[in-house]
Amino acid sequence: MSITKEVELTGMKRVSQAVALALKEMRAYAKPGLTTKELDDFGAKILSGFGAESAPRITYGFPGWTCISLNNEIAHGIPSRKKILKEGDLINIDVSAVLDGFWSDNGGSFVVGMDHNNHQPLVETSKQILRKAISYIKGGIRISDIGRLIDSEAKKAGYKVIRNLTGHGIGRSLHEEPKEIANYQDKYNLTRFKKNSVVAIETFISTTSTIADTQKDGWTLLGNRGGFVAQHEHTIVVTDKYPLVLTEMNDIWN
Ligand code: CO
Ligand code: CO
Repeated sequence: MSITKEVELTGMKRVSQAVALALKEMRAYAKPGLTTKELDDFGAKILSGFGAESAPRITYGFPGWTCISLNNEIAHGIPSRKKILKEGDLINIDVSAVLDGFWSDNGGSFVVGMDHNNHQPLVETSKQILRKAISYIKGGIRISDIGRLIDSEAKKAGYKVIRNLTGHGIGRSLHEEPKEIANYQDKYNLTRFKKNSVVAIETFISTTSTIADTQKDGWTLLGNRGGFVAQHEHTIVVTDKYPLVLTEMNDIWN
């Protein structure tokens, strides 16, 4: 969406506060021994407290309030009583919601407890790349140039990117124009970021795989060549200088 009135900015700020706080609190709550269903129930309570509804649940019928992906799962992991967090797991929580007709989306990967499996370098790289990508976004910048930046930063650090998962426009629905903000230079995408538009920027930094494949459950995404992926996501308003990061209080950069 494009922000044209103060009430639209206020609406986007409120829903962004709900998803950002839910993500922040869920990160703090995630401990070894907890199931991903318990973690999701905890997040659902926070969103409900704001009067917000889960975006993937009402848009796609996703079986959970938030997406919780563990270890080799890249995204869209289904919260489950059978999935118990262990020390050293790589976990990704993605929280998107709607409140009063406004939609916001954010996510982050982190290590549960002690980093026994040395996932932290991947997590740090993804965070730094999101930070750098957002710092370059303003009205008039080509979307494909941000993709090129994400890809080249990933390569410099020894990683790859997932090519078929992307950032996206957001605001009046979960996914809107621009539909694809890729993590690589898509030469066919000539569109540019527009001032006052709302977009969700997300990294998909990968150790091995380049494509995410949907599994038999119809949701869970695994890499075509295995390995691990870190994702970090903010919803932002594009300006003519540094963007307004609506989900900043999720603390994924800290
Ligand atoms: Co998301
Ligand atoms: Co998103």
